[in-house]
Amino acid sequence: MSTSIIYLVYLVAAVLFILGIKGLTKPRTAVKGNRLSSLGMLIAVVVTLFDQSILSYQWIIAGIIIGGATGATLASKIQVTSMPQLVAMLNGFGGGASLLIALANFLDPQSATHTIALISIAVTILIGSVTLSGSFVAFAKLQELISGNPIAIPANKLLNGILFVAAIVLSIMIVNNPNDTVLVYLLVAVALVLGLLLVLPIGGADMPVVIALLNSYSGIAAATTGFITGNTVLIVSGALVGASGLILTQIMCKAMNRSLFNVLFGVMAEGGETIDADEVYAGKVKSSSAEEIAMMLETAERVIIVPGYGLAMAQAQHAVRDLANVLEGRGTQVLYGIHPVAGRMPGHMNVLLAEAEVPYEQLIEMDEINPQFEQTDVAIVIGANDVTNPMAREDKGSPIYGMPILNVDKARSVVIVKRSLSPGFAGLPNPLFAMDHTLMLFGDGKKAIVELTQSLKEAD
Ligand code: TAP
Repeated sequence: MSTSIIYLVYLVAAVLFILGIKGLTKPRTAVKGNRLSSLGMLIAVVVTLFDQSILSYQWIIAGIIIGGATGATLASKIQVTSMPQLVAMLNGFGGGASLLIALANFLDPQSATHTIALISIAVTILIGSVTLSGSFVAFAKLQELISGNPIAIPANKLLNGILFVAAIVLSIMIVNNPNDTVLVYLLVAVALVLGLLLVLPIGGADMPVVIALLNSYSGIAAATTGFITGNTVLIVSGALVGASGLILTQIMCKAMNRSLFNVLFGVMAEGGETIDADEVYAGKVKSSSAEEIAMMLETAERVIIVPGYGLAMAQAQHAVRDLANVLEGRGTQVLYGIHPVAGRMPGHMNVLLAEAEVPYEQLIEMDEINPQFEQTDVAIVIGANDVTNPMAREDKGSPIYGMPILNVDKARSVVIVKRSLSPGFAGLPNPLFAMDHTLMLFGDGKKAIVELTQSLKEAD
């Protein structure tokens, strides 16, 4: 295949990746975006295999069938709530693949040993190994193969610092001594341990941020692999993954009002222990029943449903859709307020509600829905807690002060569906539960919503 045709096809693949990422920014175009990116990847892989005469047609077709079947099986079997661990595992494989390519190139006597290639090899081995071991710890935590709690490692920061410096020194030595294979194996060992130590102390709940960061690392490792093999499409796609992973990490940190440093070193914020739940709730929380809330909903003209982590735990998405159908049947307008970090992974609520076929146009993002709460008769909060906590807006001493929230408390009436007064991820009491216009509907999210829908139907 001529070089110009190959570059042209690589360009087509790169354009497809970019169009794919653009599509993925909106739920309506996400499926199309995913398909465009996959097509770009297929084109890039097949053309590279032909170009380098790596494999025969038969092997390429066999690879596509086996790889495609494995991917399709994984994608269809995986639960939405298990998606973070699948992504963690795939990131690990990405880092591992880059590591193996770098090693193979270093050990191959035919391979180029000019300085740029050697620097790329050292960088790829370092980032690829960190991504590999770090991602597998993230996977093990989320899959509950090991404890999801932060695992304390004595002098962790110092140890990480020493390992990082050792890795940099080894990398420089590799560039200067390209025939010394021991240095390379040492670098692999140091970087693998560094990956373990970086992720072990981070709590399971912070894993989505870590996974986005590791995703970015796997992209950077792929891009540097592109420099080793001289493959432009790998450089482009790796850079795209690296940049988008970093942007996603940044979006999550901002939406939680936590710095990346705090996430990586397990710091929530100052002042967490000083807030006494009894003081916030004592004598002020009003418990209600499905019948009472159904009566309130009968006259509501506009209802906003705010889903959170508990909705995912209760698997209440279909029950919520049924409730919305009944309300809409009675002429009530129903919207959904979506907070960017509601749940435990990016897009968690969108994915759950899409599964229940809630129309996309009813899913309204935080900035757009917030001004609408004041004209809303009832806000129904299902299994959400931190993302509705007014302390984030008003209490300067609060650990979550500054975290953008859904202004649910501005609605005329608020209904909170959860099992108890237990805190959410941030471990804080929520003054919203004790407000005059708030009613608590205690119970499992799915059961409570089914009862509410039933009561509303009976009222007809
Ligand atoms: P949370 O604040 O974690 O609260 C979830 C609530 O769901 C809990 O208070 C719990 O109360 C309730 N719940 C659990 N199981 C339930 C069930 N079966 N039925 C009904 N309710 C149930 O959730 P949120 O408001 O979605 O906020 C997300 C939090 O996670 C934020 O602090 C965010 O910073 C953090 N976080 C998010 C991400 C991403 S990317 N989404 C990543 C890392 C961290 P009960 O036990 O009383 O029922």
